[in-house]
Amino acid sequence: MTTYTICVLPGDGIGPEVTDCAKRVLDSLASLDNGPIFEFETYPAGHGTFISSGNAMPDSTMVAAKKADSVLVGAMDVAQIPSGGGDPLRSLRVGLEVGASVRPSRSIKGVESPADNIDCVIVREVTEGLYSRVEYMVGDDAACAVRIITRKASTKTARMAFEQARLRQKATNPTHNKGRVTAVHKVGALKLTDGLFLESVKSVATEYPDIEYETRNIDACAMEMIREPEHFDVILSTNTFGDILSDVGAGLAAGLGLAASGCIGERWAYFEPVHGTAPDIAGKGIANPCATILSAAMMLRHIGEIDCANSVENAVTTVLGHNEFRTGDLGGTATSSEITGAIIKLLHKS
Ligand code: IPM
Ligand code: MG
Repeated sequence: MTTYTICVLPGDGIGPEVTDCAKRVLDSLASLDNGPIFEFETYPAGHGTFISSGNAMPDSTMVAAKKADSVLVGAMDVAQIPSGGGDPLRSLRVGLEVGASVRPSRSIKGVESPADNIDCVIVREVTEGLYSRVEYMVGDDAACAVRIITRKASTKTARMAFEQARLRQKATNPTHNKGRVTAVHKVGALKLTDGLFLESVKSVATEYPDIEYETRNIDACAMEMIREPEHFDVILSTNTFGDILSDVGAGLAAGLGLAASGCIGERWAYFEPVHGTAPDIAGKGIANPCATILSAAMMLRHIGEIDCANSVENAVTTVLGHNEFRTGDLGGTATSSEITGAIIKLLHKS
C-alpha cells in the first residue's frame, strides 16, 4: 500500500465541512485491500486567513502545496479579499503551473436535472485571459481590464483538452459520442486574442488526427449546450468563457453540489469543488459534500489510484441515484455527514 501526503486548504464558508467529508472518504480507503493511506496536512488560505494574518495566501501554504503529493481545496471567499491581501486561487493556479482546470459535467441516473444526457468536460485555461489581473482606471470614469492570451498557455491548455478527449475515448461509455474537442471563442469581436488562441489550438489539433476538432462562438456554444448537451465531449476555452460554461454545465447536470474539478499541470495539481463558500448554510452541516468528494476522486485518478477513483465515483452516483440520502440542494434532508457515511458504507460493501 502507498502513503500519500495531501495538503488540505479548507478555506472559507462550507469549505472546512466539505473537505472534512472528503477526508473521511479518503481515510476509509485504507481498509480496502491494498488501499492507499493518506496523511493530511491542513494549511490556511482564504478570506479568514486574510482577516487573521493580513495575507490570504501565506508563503508557507504555497511551499506545502508544492511539497505534498497532491492538494485538496475547499472553497475560498476571494471576492471579500481586498486587492493586495493575497489571491489564493490565482496563486495556486500560477504557482502550481496549472495548464487547465478540468471540469466534468455529467448527469447522474436517478438525479433530476435539466439535462439527463450531458456528459462532457470543460477544459478551461485558468491563469490568463480576462482574469489576468491587469486592470487600471483611465481617469475617474473609465476602467480597463487587459485580456492577455499567450501561445504558450493556449497550447498547454489545448494539449490537455486533446489528452482528455483521448482518455474519454478509451473509457467505457459506448452510448456517448466521444473523441471531440470543441474550442470556444469570440474571434469576430476579439480578433487578436482569440485569433491567437484558435491558431494555437489548431496547431495542437494536427497532432491528434484521431480526435475530431471543431470551434464554436461562446454565445452559440452556451445555447447549444442547453439545447443539445449530448453533442459535447471536451469543451476547450479561455479563462472567462470556461468559468461561465462550467457553471452552465453544472446547472444542466443537477447543480454545483456535484460539480468537481481539478487544476492540473505537468508537475503539480490541485483539486477543488466548482462551488463557492455558500455563507448562508456554512456551519450547519447540510452542505452537499459530493462535489468535494468527486474532486477527491479526480485526485485519486491523478495520483494513479484508478480503482479507488472509480469506486468512489460509483459510490457517489449510486447513493445519489437511490434517492435515500440527498442534501437540501437536491431536494433531500440528509446532512453532509449522513451522505458521506452512506458513500463510505457502500464503498466497503463492494
Ligand atoms: C471558479 C471560480 C473562481 C474563478 C473565482 C472564485 C475566482 O468562479 O473557479 O470557477 O473563476 O476563477
Ligand atoms: Mg466559477
